[in-house]
Amino acid sequence: MRVVSVFAGVALVAFAGAEILYAGVNSAGGEFAQQNLPGAFGIDYQFINESAIDFFLNAGVNTIRLPFLLERMCPLETGLGATLNETYLSEFSAAITYITMRGGYAILDAHNYMRYNDPSMQPQSGSIIGNTSDPKAASTKNLAAFWTELSNRFKTNPNVIYGIMNEPHDMPTDLVLKNDQAMIDAIRGTGAQQLILVPGNGFTGAHRWLNETCGTNCTPNADVLTAITDPLNNFAFDMHLYFDNDTSGTHTECTLAAPTNLLPVTTWLADNNYTAFLSEFGAGSNPTCFETLNNTLNHLEANPQFIGWTYWSAGPLWGDYFLSIEPGEGVQFNSTWREVLEPHVQSYGPMQRCGVSSSRMNGVVDGVIKALEGCLGLRLPG
Ligand SMILES: *[C@@H]1O[C@H](CO)[C@@H](O)[C@H](O)[C@H]1NC(C)=O
Ligand SMILES: *[C@@H]1O[C@H](CO)[C@@H](O)[C@H](O)[C@H]1NC(C)=O
Ligand SMILES: *[C@@H]1O[C@H](CO)[C@@H](O)[C@H](O)[C@H]1NC(C)=O
Ligand SMILES: *[C@@H]1O[C@H](CO)[C@@H](O)[C@H](O)[C@H]1NC(C)=O
Ligand SMILES: *[C@@H]1O[C@H](CO)[C@@H](O)[C@H](O)[C@H]1NC(C)=O
Ligand SMILES: *[C@@H]1O[C@H](CO)[C@@H](O)[C@H](O)[C@H]1NC(C)=O
Ligand SMILES: *[C@@H]1O[C@H](CO)[C@@H](O)[C@H](O)[C@H]1NC(C)=O
Ligand SMILES: *[C@@H]1O[C@H](CO)[C@@H](O)[C@H](O)[C@H]1NC(C)=O
Repeated sequence: MRVVSVFAGVALVAFAGAEILYAGVNSAGGEFAQQNLPGAFGIDYQFINESAIDFFLNAGVNTIRLPFLLERMCPLETGLGATLNETYLSEFSAAITYITMRGGYAILDAHNYMRYNDPSMQPQSGSIIGNTSDPKAASTKNLAAFWTELSNRFKTNPNVIYGIMNEPHDMPTDLVLKNDQAMIDAIRGTGAQQLILVPGNGFTGAHRWLNETCGTNCTPNADVLTAITDPLNNFAFDMHLYFDNDTSGTHTECTLAAPTNLLPVTTWLADNNYTAFLSEFGAGSNPTCFETLNNTLNHLEANPQFIGWTYWSAGPLWGDYFLSIEPGEGVQFNSTWREVLEPHVQSYGPMQRCGVSSSRMNGVVDGVIKALEGCLGLRLPG
């Protein structure tokens, strides 16, 4: 985050014309080594540290998405629900607090694919939350109880964004809707006002939002998720996008042209007056992929339905992972980060925003009084 004075921030920046309200990176690591529970901090799993946060905020980024693992936050012994592992929570919170104290926005990302228990082979294993015919499955109520507890811990921090579930898939879209709605209701039930990112089925893929995403009852998100309600109307759909031949983000070649892959969903968002957040996208380091990424960002910037993006991914434990933009060491740090992403971030100018995270430029809780709360780092009531 570039340092601007608090009052300049309110007057000049929060209401300037840029359509991208949030831009930044994922920092993966808290969810790593799922086969080792609870695992050791710094070895099996790790969150972004202060110097890496400083690096990104100083580069102009204003948002960092931080994955955590539900089986670490809610140990299997006590199950999914209101009992948290306070040690893991404090490791996670330390990063969240540092990001937001510096004026950035932090996305709390439950990186669980709408599964809980037996996470060792994620994303394919584990019981689907809310599957009533699976005796090992956690219930929708358990999931709601978890979000009641977690949002109670964070509801006074205006710069938090709730990423309620990473990439649901291969389950009835109606159950995605039911679980999403239960999480929204749980969060709002605590009085929390911040932005909620709402995922869909099919790994929340933006390119197939209007398509069936699996064999049975996998009705298109576009047909089902219009039933979502939020009393504060402060949500955006959470979307992911990869450009390789199976859209898995595991191949270095980009074979799917952008922004063609975003046109159907962009029309749907506009027709229904929704906003969306591209919280994961990533592509290899080669000229075709650079062009694809650049075209994607240009599309997001040209269409106000898209309020933000976070690239996949930075992270302290990636090693030589081909998508890593970890400062100073990632395979894509000198290429994708420096050449493609950073210039876009810098073109947005200072990205300081004030007030509670929100899904629109003039969101439910914008306005000068509320704005001051965010800019001054004050706490919300509650
Ligand atoms: C809680 O998390 C810490 C840190 O990972 C771990 O050492 C401890 O064993 C965990 N407790 C439970 C009950 O899982
Ligand atoms: C729900 O659980 C049952 C019993 O384990 C299983 O047969 C079924 O495939 C599960 N549903 C889905 C959508 O995976
Ligand atoms: C989605 O469905 C449309 C027709 O409704 C089809 O043209 C398109 O190819 C499908 N996209 C994917 C990714 O399957
Ligand atoms: C995708 O490309 C890889 C090579 O990068 C190839 O091995 C794989 O078979 C392709 N998959 C599909 C679905 O075309
Ligand atoms: C779109 O939604 C916003 C906020 O939810 C609302 O203020 C506005 O009136 C809506 N516009 C239309 C055309 O429905
Ligand atoms: C913090 O993270 C950065 C980037 O991964 C790394 O270079 C640095 O060594 C880390 N600092 C500490 C104190 O661990
Ligand atoms: C990036 O480039 C700088 C300057 O050329 C170099 O010192 C550094 O090792 C490079 N980093 C990576 C991860 O390639
Ligand atoms: C990205 O697209 C913009 C607008 O077309 C262009 O000015 C810029 O040079 C492109 N950047 C890269 C890295 O291709």
